[in-house]
Amino acid sequence: RKKRTILDLQALKRKNVPITMLTAHDFPSARFVESAAHAPLLPVDAADSSSTTAATAPAYPRGVDICLVGDSLAMVACGYTSTSELTLDEMLYHCRSVARGCTTSLLLADLPFGTYYASVDDGVRAAVRLVQEGKMDAVKIEGGEEIVPLVRRLTDVGIPVMAHIGLTPQRQAALSGYRVQGKTVSSALKVWHDAQALQDAGAFALLVEAVPSRLAAWMTERLRVPTVGIGAGARASGQVLVQLDMLGVDSDLGAGGKGPRFLKRFADVGEQARRAVRDYVEEVRMGTFPVEGDHTYPMSDEAFEGFL
Ligand code: KIV
Ligand code: NA
Repeated sequence: RKKRTILDLQALKRKNVPITMLTAHDFPSARFVESAAHAPLLPVDAADSSSTTAATAPAYPRGVDICLVGDSLAMVACGYTSTSELTLDEMLYHCRSVARGCTTSLLLADLPFGTYYASVDDGVRAAVRLVQEGKMDAVKIEGGEEIVPLVRRLTDVGIPVMAHIGLTPQRQAALSGYRVQGKTVSSALKVWHDAQALQDAGAFALLVEAVPSRLAAWMTERLRVPTVGIGAGARASGQVLVQLDMLGVDSDLGAGGKGPRFLKRFADVGEQARRAVRDYVEEVRMGTFPVEGDHTYPMSDEAFEGFL
């Protein structure tokens, strides 16, 4: 598969084909993202009706369109308690690993907490490092109208920006936690005004997090650029989830391990991993692993006797 471009994303939005985005934070998780690019195509009848015939219709495009090195990795991969603990250097280390594993998705990384607050120049320098050292294609920035100057500068110099609106986890302290945004008139107006300002500033897409589905759908219909939703309903232009969360690797997302409402677990990898570790320990203790012949290297009698 050819590498996804921003033009491809615009075409998907135009054709009403949902955009797929998933996070990765290291080489194996990037390989999992990449593997979908080579998966069988979905049935043609499920695709949106188009002029192409069933025999030639490409159905849905293969794979993950955008691979996000999200700063959620601070929590899910590094064990920090919030994204504000993650430094730009740490982010760059993860970006380089992901870029080695995923070659056909558009590669996107978060500008970490604090790297773009003091000045537009700081933000430009951080974004340049994500592209130059992190091997990313584009950057994601949390914020509203206040990041318009930075989005404009980066767009001008040719670094594509996805703007992240609605619930912006880097501001969880100011927002008094991870709470849905846009439920009241004033909050909905802020989300909508942010969306328009960021589109006009040149953002190639908007990430919309934890916003009522009817508001996200209404905005998506009126925006030129695609929206990618997480907790924003099915009528955003696309969807994103955190890979470790959707794999069910997490087990301690707070009381009951339930996580946010928008999270769907597509597997229970955590349970499988825990069981495998328990089985390994048990088999080593019992002496049932390793098995002579299966997991061992032979040595001839002659060589062994010679050694003795
Ligand atoms: O950091 C991240 O993984 C994100 C997604 C939750 C959108 O920003
Ligand atoms: Na993020």
